[in-house]
Amino acid sequence: MTNQQHEMLASMGIDVWIQRTPAAPINPLVKVTNLAELARSVAKCMRCELHEHRIQTVFGTGAADASWLIIGEAPGAEEDRCGEPFVGRAGQLLTAMLRSIGLAREQVFIANVLKCRPPNNRDPKEHEVAQCAEYLSEQVRLIQPRIILAVGRIAAQSLLKTATPIGKMRGQRYTYGEQQIPVVVTYHPAYLLRSPQEKRKSWQDLNFAKKLFEESCA
Ligand code: URA
Repeated sequence: MTNQQHEMLASMGIDVWIQRTPAAPINPLVKVTNLAELARSVAKCMRCELHEHRIQTVFGTGAADASWLIIGEAPGAEEDRCGEPFVGRAGQLLTAMLRSIGLAREQVFIANVLKCRPPNNRDPKEHEVAQCAEYLSEQVRLIQPRIILAVGRIAAQSLLKTATPIGKMRGQRYTYGEQQIPVVVTYHPAYLLRSPQEKRKSWQDLNFAKKLFEESCA
């Protein structure tokens, strides 16, 4: 049964106990072999309504073979304008946080769960995260990081498919994907700007991540 027939019967009050055919993605991803190709696919994405509002997609920046992958939530207004993640005040704090554990921004790869800015910086919707998830998993496949740092609730919950509050996720080692890449969760720098008293906890999280990273290299 087509979705159209399904909708017609439903509008006549007839219950249809047949699953709707899921809508095919508008631009299904063809297999890509490098980040530049993936970025070109992302730039054309129209899988969800966020493409209507964006100035540009924000794919992510950094070393293509980075050992550290930092994942945030979604671009904000400045990132939408520049096409780079974490360029605003929160970005400056993220850079300082990374530097505190000896990492330069150019050494890591920084990306977001969503590649387009949600209007008025609202929280990402579930279907937006679902449509964008393939891009993130492809970034992980191509970069093959040794460790992932999820910054903020949205990144942590989307990546690890959980509703656990971020405060309860801190200080633990999670893994992502078949390769079981270690994941550490910490607070979002925008939250830390509002709640500077939590910076100490975030510093602990970063040191925990560094320790796991060093162990994985030993
Ligand atoms: N916040 C995010 O989560 N990502 C950005 O790129 C900027 C701000």
